[in-house]
Amino acid sequence: MQISGTTRLVGLLADPIAQVRTPQAFNALFAERGLDAVTVGLHAAAEGLAEAWRGLARLGNLAGFVVSIPHKLDAARLCDALGPRARLAGTVNAVRREPDGRLVGETFDGEGFVTGLRAEGFDPAGARVLLAGAGGAAASIAFALAAARAGSIDIVNRSPARAKDLAGRIAAACPRLAVKASATGRPGADLVVNATSLGLSPGDGLPFDAALIGPGSWVAEALIAPMPTALAHAAAARGARHIDGRPMLNGQLMPLLGHILPDHFA
Ligand SMILES: NC(=O)c1ccc[n+]([C@@H]2O[C@H](COP(=O)([O-])OP(=O)(O)OC[C@H]3O[C@@H](n4cnc5c(N)ncnc54)[C@H](OP(=O)(O)O)[C@@H]3O)[C@@H](O)[C@H]2O)c1
Repeated sequence: MQISGTTRLVGLLADPIAQVRTPQAFNALFAERGLDAVTVGLHAAAEGLAEAWRGLARLGNLAGFVVSIPHKLDAARLCDALGPRARLAGTVNAVRREPDGRLVGETFDGEGFVTGLRAEGFDPAGARVLLAGAGGAAASIAFALAAARAGSIDIVNRSPARAKDLAGRIAAACPRLAVKASATGRPGADLVVNATSLGLSPGDGLPFDAALIGPGSWVAEALIAPMPTALAHAAAARGARHIDGRPMLNGQLMPLLGHILPDHFA
């Protein structure tokens, strides 16, 4: 890869950032396609995010950036315009910089999650879902599962108020779906989802009681590494099928790049 004055910059905005895989994956793809573009990590903490954001809007060679942990909800507030899914879910994981400096956000986590699930052989239509998390990825996943006609969604989260808020927004958008925030979750889910950050750090526990995982259920995690997580062990012990976050990442790669670099990936 030759970086020159014409090279377009694609960022990956996160904190922490050492664990991210996106720059490696994007740069390999750009090299394969002979694109004059490079992806680098942009390490910005929450307290300096608004300032960093204003700077990004002023960078003329910036094509856009991926938004990762923990900035997806703030990103939805900071964007100048939002795509339809980001408007609904209130979360953004991809931002395109327009030539005039406007930053346009959309979310692809949910679409990637559902595409990945289907690729692995699970159709969420009619499924009873237990979803752990109410952050950026969880909100996008919840709305995508609702669009995929999941049968019901129970949301558990460390901060119950955020679970309640997310459940309320989904209920307002999809009045026929049985969705509720739950303190502990109910047993009997067909699909159990970990969309929290739990599992990223060594020694992290489970986002819910392992007894909620049934032998025939599927357990899907958003996080990719480090594997195996405590939840992967719990799923194996209870005879459930476990998938990590790679199908979710693969499922959103092309639509996300199509948003940031529409000339090359639309
Ligand atoms: N595979 C993929 O393509 C993909 C894409 C996006 C994200 N992810 C993964 O999804 C996960 C969430 O990312 P995000 O962007 O949604 O982050 P986020 O917006 O910061 O949300 C984090 C969520 O995790 C919860 N949480 C954080 N620390 C916790 C703890 N110690 N105990 C219990 N719950 C905790 C938070 O609960 P509170 O509301 O209480 O803070 C919140 O629900 C990360 O592991 C990320 O790597 C994967």
